[in-house]
Amino acid sequence: MEQRETPVVNAFNEWDPLEEIVVGIVDDAMIPGWDTIMPAVVHDRGLWDFYKTWGGTRWPTEMLLKAEKDVEAFVEVLGQAGVTVRRPERFRWDRPLSTPDWSQPSSCYALMPRDVLLVVGDLIIEAPMGWRSRYFEHLAYKALCKEYFKGGARWISAPRPQLSDASFDQRFVPMTEGEAQRFLPTEFEPLFDAADAIKCGRDLFIGRSSCCNSFGIEWLRRHLGPEYTVHEVDVYDTHPMHLDATLYPLAPGKLLIHPERVATVPAVFIEAGWDVLVCPEPEMPETHPMYNCSRWIMMNVVMLDERRVIVSAGEKRFARTLKSWGFEPIECPFWDFETIGGGFHCASVDIRRRGALRSYL
Ligand code: NVA
Repeated sequence: MEQRETPVVNAFNEWDPLEEIVVGIVDDAMIPGWDTIMPAVVHDRGLWDFYKTWGGTRWPTEMLLKAEKDVEAFVEVLGQAGVTVRRPERFRWDRPLSTPDWSQPSSCYALMPRDVLLVVGDLIIEAPMGWRSRYFEHLAYKALCKEYFKGGARWISAPRPQLSDASFDQRFVPMTEGEAQRFLPTEFEPLFDAADAIKCGRDLFIGRSSCCNSFGIEWLRRHLGPEYTVHEVDVYDTHPMHLDATLYPLAPGKLLIHPERVATVPAVFIEAGWDVLVCPEPEMPETHPMYNCSRWIMMNVVMLDERRVIVSAGEKRFARTLKSWGFEPIECPFWDFETIGGGFHCASVDIRRRGALRSYL
């Protein structure tokens, strides 16, 4: 076996020096099929008809080519920084899928590894994802997981969810601004996407969402055991999905938060004296098409280390603000990728950062 200082899989936080990362592939990405989860995650109600009509078909070629250009620019930035970039396998996403409980016209893509794999230390967890159309996405990462396992990592799949109607509140109506927080999933079975959680050494933060329930949070808490503390974040979000454009521990002592979605900043950060950095307003024009996330996706950065941060090139004000907070922003075009529904953090999953398990809080 190859000798290395750091285990092959080793990621305890978002900022230790990055050595290896998996970046998604655009490939033949498919439009998610219309399903129970869609009204809960698609911000723009005007897009429901688009999904009802086109869900299960390939995104238009021109959009995919533009998104691919962005991803390759991201890969280039990572490569320039000396980071090893790995890619998932190609997969035939266009085939229909079904279980005894449901069917979908197609899978989605291998575009957003962050949602599929949760890496904690040397452990890779395949998440119990709440999306029917993403049920088989983990298959694109199997070859990598097997390789990492053979290299010494631990690897587990969380209980595969059933995703029958019992998993979702059948009377769910999406929230509008000002209404009390409510969530789509029931407590029938453990559910979370890996991106519902974010790491900060011995502390992990996770928020309930349209694909994460309390059962899922408890599964993660108990599975990780006493070495880690799993904190539930009190979110306020009309379309809650994934924590990495809501609350993001960027570096020791520096917590980035969305100005409105964090209902209560977790007391542990305040008690530990962290700076709470409120993200400035995005600059992406309101007219820029966004199919599956909000313009706040710009918060979805990737840290190369405690200072260097990869930022969406259109977001100059955010880059300037990060600089004033002591970071070194590296700009990379990403708006065309963001159109499909994710930022740099979504589009990747860190496999190895040089560092050890520590408490920062
Ligand atoms: N749900 C968030 C994106 C999370 C990566 C948003 O739409 O802003």
